Amino acid sequence: MSRLRLGVNIDHVATIRNARGGTHPEPLRAASLAISAGADGITAHLREDRRHISDADIDALSALCQKAGRPLNLEMAVTQEMLDVALRHKPHAACLVPERREERTTEGGLDVAGGHNRIAPVVDALRKAGVRVSLFIEPSPEQIEMAEAIGAQVVELHTGAYCDAVKEGRGDQAFRLLLQLKEAAIDASRRGLEVHAGHGIDYDSVGPVAQILQLTELNIGHFLIGEAIFTGLPAAIARMRLLMDAARDLNVAYP
Ligand code: PXP
Repeated sequence: MSRLRLGVNIDHVATIRNARGGTHPEPLRAASLAISAGADGITAHLREDRRHISDADIDALSALCQKAGRPLNLEMAVTQEMLDVALRHKPHAACLVPERREERTTEGGLDVAGGHNRIAPVVDALRKAGVRVSLFIEPSPEQIEMAEAIGAQVVELHTGAYCDAVKEGRGDQAFRLLLQLKEAAIDASRRGLEVHAGHGIDYDSVGPVAQILQLTELNIGHFLIGEAIFTGLPAAIARMRLLMDAARDLNVAYP
């Protein structure tokens, strides 16, 4: 059974830094600490409005990940500006996400089925530069089919709706949404796509997601950075890692 990788998203370290406009807390230091604490990769979203991660952060994080031999996963909107940034840095992976200025966070997945004419050339340019391309999508058959058709190597399934249902105690809905995630992961994996998942994951929702054997990576940010206030980042990462591994081990016991 493959080990489930944990990508740590450090965007919200930058959110706290930017609240005062200085340099503390530094996303680079958080990324370095996350790597020491067992993160398998670092994820950062350079938003068009630069509300958290800055261009200078991406410069520094690229250098750190290269030195540490860990993948940098750059989350980016499908725009020429972001494509230029990605081609300049050539991160290990780029995850294409939808972006709207008025949203608080990435709400919903990329509409690959509706926007393939706009998305396909960006996928192509990134792949030609040797960047692994991931598409952040809702767990739906149409989106998966189109992601494969336009040449993405990875899909990241949006876990936000499932995690919200868990947080709000909507058990029946959570169960249905989890099944949707599982079916999507099976479908994508059968098509030869690597399957990741992320958004809104916390200690309560991680186990059932981690049990989906077709998933190879989870990307987790906001909860870990929030929890780090209380326990420190290494302890928060270690606990998340433990819960991921325990969920996978349960699958061995009860396949
Ligand atoms: N994956 C993607 C594609 C995202 O856009 C985000 C949020 O930036 C995450 C994972 C992490 O979500 P969260 O911060 O809620 O853990």
